[in-house]
Amino acid sequence: MTQPLRIGLIGYGFMGKAHANAYSKVGHFFPELRHRPVLQAVCAREPEKLGRFAETWGFAHTETDWRALVARPDIDAVDICVPNNLHRPIALAAAAAGKAILCEKPLAMDAAEAEEMVAAVERAGVATMVWYNYRRLPAVTLAKQLIADGRLGQPFHYRASFLQDWTISADVPQGGAALWRLDAAAAGSGVTGDLLAHCFDTALWLNGPIASLVATTETFVKERMHQEHGRIEPVGIDDACMVLVRFANGSMGTFESTRYARGHKALKTFEMNGADGSLAFDLHDSQYLDLFEYRAKQTGQKVEDQLAGWRRIHVTNFEHPYMDHWWVPGLTIGYEHSFVHAVADFLRGLESGTLVEPTFRTALETQKVCDAVLQSARSNAWVTLAR
Ligand SMILES: NC(=O)c1ccc[n+]([C@@H]2O[C@H](COP(=O)([O-])OP(=O)(O)OC[C@H]3O[C@@H](n4cnc5c(N)ncnc54)[C@H](O)[C@@H]3O)[C@@H](O)[C@H]2O)c1
Repeated sequence: MTQPLRIGLIGYGFMGKAHANAYSKVGHFFPELRHRPVLQAVCAREPEKLGRFAETWGFAHTETDWRALVARPDIDAVDICVPNNLHRPIALAAAAAGKAILCEKPLAMDAAEAEEMVAAVERAGVATMVWYNYRRLPAVTLAKQLIADGRLGQPFHYRASFLQDWTISADVPQGGAALWRLDAAAAGSGVTGDLLAHCFDTALWLNGPIASLVATTETFVKERMHQEHGRIEPVGIDDACMVLVRFANGSMGTFESTRYARGHKALKTFEMNGADGSLAFDLHDSQYLDLFEYRAKQTGQKVEDQLAGWRRIHVTNFEHPYMDHWWVPGLTIGYEHSFVHAVADFLRGLESGTLVEPTFRTALETQKVCDAVLQSARSNAWVTLAR
């Protein structure tokens, strides 16, 4: 007997589409789940485009005011897929209305907002999840399993990057539809909240808390036309960001993000080096995880020198995370599946009563790291993260 989870989706852009797709697919590929998402209502401001989106994806109702959507008694879960400055007001209203909340990343504009949101959802006792979807690519989940299994031994280094090149032209406006990421008032920050937040979420998950960091940021194009009113205005976001960190476990890390790396569209990578091995991931080859074993876990012995080398694991076997729900071994899945996995895990969490990670509280930690990065860049000094 299936139980409907009636979804109210707010925003029909890039993420609205990714999430609608995930809700549509999850029941087919994870049939063991009792809860089934129902595309109950979708909200955005332009009625005509909204109507087309609702028809394409099969949403039963539309709303042009997010407050009306949150207030609907026929909605069980609110999904926040709008620019970052709207996450807080929508989440607070949804918590007050007793709805489960799935919120896009970064959780908020800054840690102060995120703290308020965590307090509200915990007071209301509603289930939450933040869409740090890269955790749920099978190769990244496998990395987590291998680290938890102790295969890397004592960690020494963690390095991550997220590089793009789409804002190099000074003619790209800031603000408004599709360009809200360049407007600090809508985005909160630039590449730190947009791109590095993903890297930090993965890093905290794989390698534990960050104890301190020092960062530097740059805004290469200082003024841009604002798309909504046409005036030239100062740019308030960081275009590029480089960070050195010390993790609480004694390892060191580097993080780099930019939208000015000519030729890179979404070069998202991480590598971790430990005493007994290393692993590396590159989003361009998302079905692979690279592993170097110095010492074999089973025997405790050092791998023979003539056999030592990087191993490229094609993460498509039934034994790999999530992969028994898809095709036969050797056949790949892609970006959109990370969202299907997120929904599946969220539904499983509802059924078992276990909160699925990352919750709002967990995403608050990522938000604190982002705040520390921006604070360090402003002050030119190391920042210690409180624990
Ligand atoms: N998890 C990821 O990998 C990932 C990827 C991209 C974006 N995001 C996050 O998702 C969120 C949305 O980003 P996007 O790329 O989908 O943006 P987008 O610009 O493609 O879509 C934003 C949507 O919000 C709607 N919107 C804006 N103001 C609104 C309002 N007042 N009421 C109702 N709807 C409104 C717009 O109409 C649009 O449909 C952001 O927080 C972003 O950081 C996450």
